[in-house]
Amino acid sequence: MKKRYLVTAALPYANGPLHIGHLAGAYLPADIYVRYLRLMGRDVVFVCGSDEHGAAITVKARKEGTTPQAIVDKYHVLLRDTFQKIGISFDVYHRTSAPLHHETSQEFFMKLYEKGEFSEETTEQYYDEVAGQFLADRYIIGTCPVCANPDAYGDQCEKCGSTLSPTELKDPRSTLSGSTPVKRPTKHWFLRLDQHENWLREWVNNGTLNGEQLHDPAQWKNHVLGQCNSWLDQGFQPRAMTRDLDWGIDVPKQIPDSAGKKLYVWFDAPIGYISATKQWAIDNNKDWKPYWQDPETALIHFVGKDNIVFHCLIFPAILKANGDYILPVNVPANQFLNLEGRKLSTSKNWAVWVHEYCEEFKGQEDALRYNMIRKMPEQIDSEFTWKGFQETNNNELVNNLANFVNRVLVLTHKYYEGVTPEADQNQAFKSGWEADTNGDFSNEIARIRAKLLEMGDFIEAFQLREGLRSVMELSSAGNALLQFNEPWKAVKTDPEQVKTVMHLALQYVAALSVAVRPFLPDAADKLRTMLQLPALREQGDLSDLLDQLGRSESPVPAGHRIGAAEHLFSRIPDEVIEAQIQKLQATDLANQQATANTPATITYAPLKETITFDDFAKMDIRTGKILTAEKVEKSKKLLKLSVDLGFETRTILSGIAEHFEPEAVVGQQVVVLANLAPRVMMGTESQGMILMAEDADGKLSFVRPTDGWPSGMGVR
Ligand code: MF3
Ligand code: ZN
Repeated sequence: MKKRYLVTAALPYANGPLHIGHLAGAYLPADIYVRYLRLMGRDVVFVCGSDEHGAAITVKARKEGTTPQAIVDKYHVLLRDTFQKIGISFDVYHRTSAPLHHETSQEFFMKLYEKGEFSEETTEQYYDEVAGQFLADRYIIGTCPVCANPDAYGDQCEKCGSTLSPTELKDPRSTLSGSTPVKRPTKHWFLRLDQHENWLREWVNNGTLNGEQLHDPAQWKNHVLGQCNSWLDQGFQPRAMTRDLDWGIDVPKQIPDSAGKKLYVWFDAPIGYISATKQWAIDNNKDWKPYWQDPETALIHFVGKDNIVFHCLIFPAILKANGDYILPVNVPANQFLNLEGRKLSTSKNWAVWVHEYCEEFKGQEDALRYNMIRKMPEQIDSEFTWKGFQETNNNELVNNLANFVNRVLVLTHKYYEGVTPEADQNQAFKSGWEADTNGDFSNEIARIRAKLLEMGDFIEAFQLREGLRSVMELSSAGNALLQFNEPWKAVKTDPEQVKTVMHLALQYVAALSVAVRPFLPDAADKLRTMLQLPALREQGDLSDLLDQLGRSESPVPAGHRIGAAEHLFSRIPDEVIEAQIQKLQATDLANQQATANTPATITYAPLKETITFDDFAKMDIRTGKILTAEKVEKSKKLLKLSVDLGFETRTILSGIAEHFEPEAVVGQQVVVLANLAPRVMMGTESQGMILMAEDADGKLSFVRPTDGWPSGMGVR
């Protein structure tokens, strides 16, 4: 076991609120893990903060017509408060705009620079002469070389999904000014990732570095290893750690040609974990260094799936390049959480926003945490549904946990006026763990202890769903203890047995009051109050409990007076769930209307070659009217039409059968190319062609004169 832990959760971009996907991906698992470590008396610091640099911030500011500073100030506060409300117990929540962070990142960059870790390269990049600045990839749009989408971004085409670089776009334009950007040479500092490839491969897959075992790769999730290797296998290229931007951290002035250059956001943001730790140390009069530099520290990064390579490869390369730092022992990333069958999307507002949940479900924060953990995307993507949320709350939290606790407290008050009864070690009763088995007092206590240990093992292996399951099994066993022994009946016939059973039941509740803490922190507080046990300090409370149970001591001793029974969880009614579902449906509708109102991006066919007026004049185009229409046998496409041209009636085969029923076109006014050479198809001669308009999706529309227009008239 390591001496101390430094646990990080990905710094969220301060450009939007927190949704349930973020919560399930990184913050909740990190919080559970950290609270557990604290309960075990381990030395742990849990750091996070707002990621306030990068194009994500400036894009948002531009969209809202405000400054990047205003954006980060707004969202930093919202994020910090939301984390607090949903019970994410950071020891420090910092921000990357803090001067301490700017200094820390610049020092880091300088050290790497001096160690020769960068190669300087001058490349051609797009520059907006009107706006007077180099363009971040997201600020350039143009035609996708793959699918001809005219609005592809410089880094990606959202239509066909291709990853692009800005210079691949055809007809590039700047989103800042609309002008056509020009290429200008610019110098940047590239981290020589190619030189780190070999040790990274070895370290990730075997956990070894210079022959030393640093972590156990069997503990790393498969999908994490898979992503790392697929990156490494593509060849690890030097990567620019600087950008031409006006928002961000300046490249240290001492470096020649650094004027106007900023650090790449993925260089500075993870260093934010270090600055946050420094801030924590200042606030708590501690030393930050051991947490980052002593090999006796376990560094663990909790992140979402999209951050894996930055934390498993690029940041470790930066840490190793510096030389003074330890590497993470694990990056237990989760997969994605979906919402009601669809990908969560901030821009489409397809999300459950955590701050809104906290407003609408005040006092029920644990219910969301519980559902998130039950559905946590630990190995594969998973899904949140409001109905599922209602179910886990009503069927599991209320019917199992709250119900058990309530019975124990109510009965203790009823039979013993709230004073814990004595247990008789020799009393016969039924075990809560196996139906029809005789219980044994110390054995029951040992079973409780074993469940707590099992929970801990799961949490330490980052199997948090399983950890929660152990807790719920403890509650189920407590419930079964009551069910099998029926104290409400036995109290009349065998009051001595009931004392032992109720004494034991109270020990289950006491164990739960600690065990639920990592998962459901508010419920733990309520349980402690109900039992009139000291509030949890998250400083060894669980290890103390394990010791106590190991000595076969009751955490709620005989004679101890408990408090009143309170509602631990409340049922969530159908109306509340319906209202949430309707809220999502309204979002969906608004999105559909928005798409209907924005003209779809259409790919227009290129113009054909120029013709002369004489070419055109050769065509004899006439108005007409369809008199009869029938399907052509064995042909999916053709309708056989008789068309009135005023001076004569023609038989025309038209390829519209997949678009129109024959009955629907009878009486239809049309425009006909009347001097097209006749052609035999499917055994019938077609004497002309009906003109149709075709849209981008291949839908057809008749081209026709105004209603009542006579047939046989010329079209020019
Ligand atoms: N802001 C990034 C995101 O939301 C995560 C940054 S994690 C850090 O995807 F390591 F860079 F801090
Ligand atoms: Zn494309």
